[in-house]
Amino acid sequence: MGGPKKATMTLDRSFRIGDIDDRIYGAFIEHLGRAIYGGIYEPDHESADADGFRTDVLGLVKELDVPVVRYPGGNFVSGYNWEDGIGPREERPRRLELAWRSIETNQFGTDEFMDWVNKVGTEAMMAVNLGSRGIDGARNMVEYCNHPGGTYWSDLRKQHGYAEPHDIKLWCLGNEMDGPWQIGHKTAVEYGRIALEAAKVMKMVDPSLELVVCGSSNARMPTFPEWEATVLDHTYDMVDYISLHTYFNNKANDTANFLAQSVGMDAFIDTVIGVCDYIKAKKRSQKVVNLSFDEWNVWYHSHEATAKEESWQIAPPILEDVYTFEDALVVGCMLISLLKRADRVKIACIAQLVNVIAPIMTRTGGGVWRQTIFYPYLHMSLYGRGYALTPVIDSPVYDSQDFSDVPYLEAIAVANDETEELTVFAVNRDLENPLNLECRLGNFEGYQVIEHITLTHTDVRAVNTEENPNNVAPKRNGNAKLNGLILAADLAPLSWNVIRLGKAGK
Ligand code: AHR
Repeated sequence: MGGPKKATMTLDRSFRIGDIDDRIYGAFIEHLGRAIYGGIYEPDHESADADGFRTDVLGLVKELDVPVVRYPGGNFVSGYNWEDGIGPREERPRRLELAWRSIETNQFGTDEFMDWVNKVGTEAMMAVNLGSRGIDGARNMVEYCNHPGGTYWSDLRKQHGYAEPHDIKLWCLGNEMDGPWQIGHKTAVEYGRIALEAAKVMKMVDPSLELVVCGSSNARMPTFPEWEATVLDHTYDMVDYISLHTYFNNKANDTANFLAQSVGMDAFIDTVIGVCDYIKAKKRSQKVVNLSFDEWNVWYHSHEATAKEESWQIAPPILEDVYTFEDALVVGCMLISLLKRADRVKIACIAQLVNVIAPIMTRTGGGVWRQTIFYPYLHMSLYGRGYALTPVIDSPVYDSQDFSDVPYLEAIAVANDETEELTVFAVNRDLENPLNLECRLGNFEGYQVIEHITLTHTDVRAVNTEENPNNVAPKRNGNAKLNGLILAADLAPLSWNVIRLGKAGK
């Protein structure tokens, strides 16, 4: 049916989902393609600093205010010898990198990553190799990174110029170990056993660690969710988070269905929470294991180009998705999904950060620009801190290829008592019609509209490029108005909206 549609939303300060852990706005950087080499690290680049880091890229990462960065993989980590990436650069070995069929020069490793992390002002989320390696490599790496000194590995770190420990608190126990493509792929029992033993020795070295155990690579894996149940049965007492990964695509060229995919992400999150709590009950445990959604994004544009790249190149241009306007809307919906369960999703990483399926794009030896998906991620990271509120939504719905009763309005609200701000993030999934939103506010007296940011475009396939970097860019042109406790706004067809309210007089 044509013409504007109406949706209502009720928000109340007491509809609190939970405090938002800032790490929900994390990102991921893998030794893959040009993520590191030609991305964050390019010593010959005109913007490179003394450490070889591209300062133009650093600027955009800082703009995103990324709270945590997962490293070094990904599939890469399951074949990685972390010892190859430390010490004098000229002595580091070149290796065949089997996961992405590249050459790894090891010119960038753990210490360089920590230098970069400190420059960005973010936190590291380090992964150990439980594919081709095991508990010995894991415990040695924790000793190298976190032990103050007086032992072989900690003194080696000092010898390499790092007198103080890196003090990395958050560690992943391998990557996607349920996936047959993974180097050292394991059954749930095999992985549960090694993850437990690795966790045990890592915590013996540093009891303050927080550990993430691998969940399923995606909700379509035949072993999901039995994998989670078995793995947690082995590791429950030793781990703090279980991982989830999801990538969406629009290969079918069906925008309505593509935009509906986050409904599946909601279900994925709810199921994993259910499994965690089942094991909690089974073990009569008081402990709660939370979720780390440490790979999520849209990924498919680059599949063909990647398949054509020759094997065994250094930093090949692979997985370089050029993101469209509709991808930005899907990324917005995925961010909303994470916040809907902010009570249990404590960490999340957009995959990835630079060049490889990323919001930030560079040309090696050239410029840097923001992809379309940069913007919803930026807005959430900047204005989505505080606590999440359940929006009680009454929206018209549609049926798509994969889902029924998909609400045209996808939304979440975030309140912050310190800044006295309330922000509504909303997507109108309707391809043709505006959505008249009426939002009733409870317990938010004395607020006013600060701004209503929108991201819209007439072409769902519109992209940003080095030559035309602002083709898809946000504008402060929304018409949100607050009348007493009623917020009214017209949400344009296919639009991302950020409606920021603040206490009047602040
Ligand atoms: O992010 C790209 C790849 O996707 C990662 O290496 C892997 O963990 C996932 O399958």
